[in-house]
Amino acid sequence: MAVLEGPAVRLRPPVAADLEGIFAWYNDPDIVAPFDRFATDTFDDFARSVAEAPGDPVSLAPRYVVETRTDGAVVGVVGHYRPHPVLEFIDVWYILGRPAARGRGYGREAVGLLTDHLFATETVERVGATCDVENVPSYRLLEGLGYRREGTLRAALFHHSAWHDVYVYGLTRAERSSARPRA
Ligand SMILES: CC(C)(COP(=O)(O)OP(=O)(O)OC[C@H]1O[C@@H](n2cnc3c(N)ncnc32)[C@H](O)[C@@H]1OP(=O)(O)O)[C@@H](O)C(=O)NCCC(=O)NCCS
Repeated sequence: MAVLEGPAVRLRPPVAADLEGIFAWYNDPDIVAPFDRFATDTFDDFARSVAEAPGDPVSLAPRYVVETRTDGAVVGVVGHYRPHPVLEFIDVWYILGRPAARGRGYGREAVGLLTDHLFATETVERVGATCDVENVPSYRLLEGLGYRREGTLRAALFHHSAWHDVYVYGLTRAERSSARPRA
């Protein structure tokens, strides 16, 4: 797997030394799932899923850690997966596990790097993402990269004891190459 370098962050494959820290984020619903469903594996299952992800297009495991280029601090994780058995597109997901690192543009830069990497290495014409309609940082991150809101899936996600509507976002290869708004 490639290392993806941006101005402020670097995306690199997870190594064994990263896993305890990421797993700790995964055990804190306020960190990983303020607007999402929450479920945890055992550490061994989590480590296995990370190891197997490169060979599994539908894996939801983290595929890259996000580290700051200034000091190498691991601030987040990103992933991608093929969500549909017939339609051909890839969805991205993203978490900045260190709350102090949020709001500095790291999330958008990381997702921009991942998006460009997917268009460079996969044959898909569309990269997408979904997020709870109340997850303002998530959809603003996407919109800043040129992702377009394509619709709303009603009552599609159950979390915090209720059903939630979900926005569907997408970005085509042509849109990404013709406009590089930010990151
Ligand atoms: C979503 C997340 C990755 C955003 O990362 P980030 O590095 O903080 O985001 P950025 O600094 O790149 O900012 C992206 C946009 O969100 C906005 N934003 C950031 N924090 C915000 C907040 N608390 N409230 C409102 N907008 C916010 C920024 O202003 C920016 O939009 P703008 O340029 O149009 O003003 C981060 O908030 C996170 O990890 N959240 C928890 C996990 C999660 O919800 N993941 C997404 C699941 S779909």
